[in-house]
Amino acid sequence: DKGGWSSFMAKEITEQPEAVANTFRGRVVDGRVEIPELSALGEERLREVDRIVIIACGTASYAGQIGAYAIERWARVPVEVQLSHEFRYRDPVLSPSTMVISVSQSGETMDTLMAVKYAKDRGVTTVSVCNTQSATIPRESDAAVYTHAGPEVAVASTKAFTAQITALYLIGLHLGRVRGTLSPEEEAQAASAFEQLPQAVAEAVETHEQIAQLAHWMADTRSVLFLGRHVGYPTALEGALKLKEIAYIHAEGFAAGELKHGPIALIDHGQPVFVLVPSPRRSPVMHSKVVSNIQEIRARGARVIAIVEKGDTAVLPYADDVIRMPLTDPLFEPLVQVVPLQWFALELSTAKGLDVDQPRNLAKSVTVE
Ligand code: M6R
Repeated sequence: DKGGWSSFMAKEITEQPEAVANTFRGRVVDGRVEIPELSALGEERLREVDRIVIIACGTASYAGQIGAYAIERWARVPVEVQLSHEFRYRDPVLSPSTMVISVSQSGETMDTLMAVKYAKDRGVTTVSVCNTQSATIPRESDAAVYTHAGPEVAVASTKAFTAQITALYLIGLHLGRVRGTLSPEEEAQAASAFEQLPQAVAEAVETHEQIAQLAHWMADTRSVLFLGRHVGYPTALEGALKLKEIAYIHAEGFAAGELKHGPIALIDHGQPVFVLVPSPRRSPVMHSKVVSNIQEIRARGARVIAIVEKGDTAVLPYADDVIRMPLTDPLFEPLVQVVPLQWFALELSTAKGLDVDQPRNLAKSVTVE
């Protein structure tokens, strides 16, 4: 049932406020973050972890990259993110104090399942972030942290992505508290960011009409670039993947700081570039760097579509289109900024007359290696 929407993807985009709320419900209580499934592993085991490897594919790997920033910030453990299919074949360095966190909506992705088994066979603690109750990957893992986003039908992942980020943030906070690296102020700040999250995501969903108009004018676009910094970088990668997947348009995401190391040569007159702009209030240094990146690409003819925090006027003189986002904690920006990117892919796919939910050559769950 598409609930009155023209596609499951549209319905699932609009379900995100509820999906993220369901992920943190019962896990943030009176300003304290507690994941019972992690507690069951024992505090000692969590304190001994000296390295975390996140393994996933596709959209789940971008959620992993975003989660890595938060886990390092709060738990002060080095985190690396590897594609499941690369992880196994590189002869990874693993020890009993390594924790492997797999991220998978379906819990059946063969590449990720094989990587989890590989890690498990080497005595590593395995934690699964999964959306599908009792799927194979969570059953094979030492602990399962379910996202509770509800069934995701569209091939293009949307609500599972924001729910995965939410779950990884909760894991980071839980580990930080157990390990004593999380200050009470940080925990309170994160708890309040969670409280405000569903409303913020709901506001981001409201950008639909504006994005639909933008996509309408861009239906003939052949290539779109996405730029971001810090957590905005994997968000940019996710925006590009959505567009490739369902609108069959060439798209690439870049770390904004990488522009001058090569990609700026791609900028030509009229090249559309989405830029994820960090908050000017909370991340002033990164904000000013991104504004300079915008000036650089604008001077070379880019068509700039800026996703900014509402009230940010610094970008206005250099942007062709401005999409305004609600105020959030900087680490939580991907959870709102990705929403207009999801709408954009959906609307371009629709404008091209494509099947939004069932893109060519793709399956919802990739159960072959
Ligand atoms: O079920 P999983 O989360 O393990 O799936 C991983 C990827 O195949 C998946 O995220 C894929 O990239 C999506 N179709 C992206 O929208």
